[in-house]
This record gives sequence, C-alpha cells and structure tokens, in this order.
Amino acid sequence: MKIGIMGAMTEEIAGLVDAMGSRREQVEVGRRTYHVGELYGREVVIVFSRWGKVAAATTATELLARHGVERMIFTGVAGAVSPALRVGDVVVGSTLYQHDMNGSPLFPRHEIPLLGVSGFETEASARREAALAVERFLARRREWIPDEVASEFGIAAPKVVEGAIASGDKFFADGAELGELRGRLPDVACVEMEGAAVAQVCHEYGVPLTVIRTISDAADEGAPVDFARFVREIASRYSLGVVRSLLGG
Ligand code: ADE
Repeated sequence: MKIGIMGAMTEEIAGLVDAMGSRREQVEVGRRTYHVGELYGREVVIVFSRWGKVAAATTATELLARHGVERMIFTGVAGAVSPALRVGDVVVGSTLYQHDMNGSPLFPRHEIPLLGVSGFETEASARREAALAVERFLARRREWIPDEVASEFGIAAPKVVEGAIASGDKFFADGAELGELRGRLPDVACVEMEGAAVAQVCHEYGVPLTVIRTISDAADEGAPVDFARFVREIASRYSLGVVRSLLGG
C-alpha cells in the first residue's frame, strides 16, 4: 500500500526524506517536490504541502491522482483550543472541520456545500493505531527530546488525545477570536490550516486519512512567538518520531 505523507514544515520533510535513504526519486511539479521511495520498508511519497487549505488540497490531489497513494498521513503543529491541552501534547484528528466555511443562508454554517457534511470523520481503527504510535513515541520521548530541551518548552508529561480539529486560512493569535471559535465549534481540540482541506479531498477520493498534530502554542496573543520557537527547535523531532513509530521503523 502506497502511503502519502504530507507535512506542513520543511524541517520535518527534510528529516523524513533523509530517513528514506538514497534510493529515492524526486518529482517536481506545481511548485512542490514529491519524494518517492521507501521509508521503514513502506512505499511512500513524501511532500511539503505549504500552508493553507488550497496549498494542502492541491498537494493531496496530486498525491492521489498522479501517485496513486492509498493512505494519507498529515503531520504538523497546531494551536490549542481545548484548555486541557499543553504545548507538546499531540492530537490525532477525529473530526475535521473547515472553520471558515460559511455558505449560509444557502447551507448551514460549516456545512461543505453539496457534500452534506459539516465535518469529516477519520476512520476509528486508523486513528487508534496512530494514537498508539504516538503513545509509544511519547514513552520514549527522551531519546528524541532531552529533558533540558523539553523543560524549556514546559513539556513535562505530554499526552495524546483523539479530538476534533478545525482548519482554515487563518493563524489564530487573539484570545477573543479563539473564544468565538470555541463558542461556534465547542468540541474542537486544536486549530491549524490544512487538515480539513486534505480530509475533503481524501473523502472525495475514498482514501483514509490520519492527521497528527503537535500543540505548538495556545492560539492566543503569544502564539506567533511560541509557534516560531517550537517549529524551529522541536517540531520536527515529534513528527519524525511519530511517523517512525507509526510505520514501524
Ligand atoms: N498552527 C499552529 N499554531 C496555529 C495557530 N495558532 N493558528 C492556526 N494554525 C496554527
């Protein structure tokens, strides 16, 4: 089974591509570089999606239509919406909403026109498998992230949860806007900019998707600084460790 692995950060893609070894091919199309080969004994195509829903959807379509991937994994970071989540916790997406979809009054708020759904559910078994892989990674977290680095980020006992993710073309960095989102989509655990776009494409092509997001910030006024620091220093260690654990490497 060919697996598409999409990442929202160049750093994490670089690490995964290195882990593929030398027997890999590079396909350049549509301003993306698709790395085709094997990772931990699995057939994979790995790509940096760029940011936002359009970038993610076009990249996902390319993976499905040109490369014929039969399973999709998306990894990256997210801002916490649930107050129970801390920096360093991991969310495996259960339902993916497009928080900026608003076809009202023609369609109910958040409903994807002509699909008749407001959120895309991921497959329970794939989600469970991903959550267990994250647990295995977190149990060995010190091999990837030493205590002194973790403590700089206030990461003590990071956890994994299965929860709803809201995606849209917006970086959240304002407590009032975050509060409004919480009121509108009360079950959302975290916010990012790509997952639900990939979920729509995967839904339409009938391919299962797993979205794994590490919390980098609290989606409030501190988010721009916290996000940049987390991405620069730590995010790729999470995605590498989690993907390795998930693929059985
Ligand atoms: N990804 C990581 N942090 C985010 C935030 N605060 N808003 C949107 N996407 C994010």
